[in-house]
Amino acid sequence: MQMTELIAKKRDGGALTTEEIGFMIDGYVRGEIPDYQMSAMCMAILFSGMDDREVLDLTMCMMHSGETLDLSPIHGVKADKHSTGGVGDKTSLVLCPMVAACGVKIAKMSGRGLGHTGGTIDKLESFPGFVTGISEERFFDNVNRIGIAIAGQTAEVCPADKKLYALRDVTGTVPSIPLIVSSIMSKKLAAGADVIVLDVKCGSGAFMKTPEQARELAEGLTRVGKLAGRKCAAVITDMDEPLGFAVGNALEVKEAIDVLAGRTEAGELKELCLTLGANMLALSGLAADEQGARAKLEATIADGSALRKLAEMVEAQGGDSRAVYDFSLLPDAAFKREVPCEEGGYVAHIEADDVGLVSMHLGGGRVTKESAIDLSVGVVLHKKVGDRVEPGESLATIHASDEGKAARAEELLRKCYTLSPYPVEKAPFIKNIVK
Ligand code: URA
Repeated sequence: MQMTELIAKKRDGGALTTEEIGFMIDGYVRGEIPDYQMSAMCMAILFSGMDDREVLDLTMCMMHSGETLDLSPIHGVKADKHSTGGVGDKTSLVLCPMVAACGVKIAKMSGRGLGHTGGTIDKLESFPGFVTGISEERFFDNVNRIGIAIAGQTAEVCPADKKLYALRDVTGTVPSIPLIVSSIMSKKLAAGADVIVLDVKCGSGAFMKTPEQARELAEGLTRVGKLAGRKCAAVITDMDEPLGFAVGNALEVKEAIDVLAGRTEAGELKELCLTLGANMLALSGLAADEQGARAKLEATIADGSALRKLAEMVEAQGGDSRAVYDFSLLPDAAFKREVPCEEGGYVAHIEADDVGLVSMHLGGGRVTKESAIDLSVGVVLHKKVGDRVEPGESLATIHASDEGKAARAEELLRKCYTLSPYPVEKAPFIKNIVK
């Protein structure tokens, strides 16, 4: 078999066989197929596409390129959630304790943030003493005992995806649905859950800019999940502005706790967590329908069991669980600075990626994988798309480690906002659910 023949076959619209896909991925991981041939193949896939069988073969091959997690020592239904990435996305911090309080087992491997997007693992480290690098034995034991553990990735999962993603990133081949589906699903399948619920972001701050593209991705992801024998659903949600109000690690933890504690009446973060959670419970067989599932989830907020579940997880992973109830024990930035609106109007747009960059500039995001981050800093937005803002009213509060950084962040944040003199209608937050 020759890689040159496979590239030509895909270029001309042919379907690669299972053996050909195996040859290509194994050869690439072993270093026998060079980057230039693999990048030509990625471009051919981008233009010619792949059918479902090819995408499944590619996904399984990538999944088997590294370690896979066997969650069988955990009793009960195991569920996992994945977001295609967004700014201010603290969903897992709310969703996982809520769902675990309903009896679904959450054994979750999460990542650190890089660039302008945050990672759940960094956010959790806002709890003093919280350990994300726990042993597999402790991880399984915690899930069996309290129903939830969220740890950093230890196993060498999907090395083929790591290599391929780095190549796609520099060859203009990231926005190919078959390549995105196989990249995401190979990692999710390797993590071993029975139920996988996906949050597919759509809008200016997301990979998928239009609802049509997002739907195509959501359908691709759920199809492969089901073909691989997992229960799967995807929720398509708006990312035309940051999710919720806080962007920055400890600030996002506080916003998440406010939802779990019932201090947040409504809002997009809560709505998203109820929608994702309802799908998780329904797919796990713990609720007859979505309405029943939502009622169960709401009850975990009302009776305090979701918040207690978060505290139990923090305690079980070495953290100070008192911080769940007492925010003075969480990191707090030395300087706070308001961003008063100059002219007033209606908020028409907030550039999500750029708000993420403001948080990064303040020290809350990683420039390289090795950089240290300041968990206390970030931004709390007070005005979101559709809101009326008066001249002089604050658009946001900057949380910074010094005055200089706060002043620069104010300048940058102001540019993230687009105001209109006319009332602005907000697009629906939940755009679609694909089952
Ligand atoms: N996220 C991934 O993990 N892979 C992609 O290809 C795109 C987004």
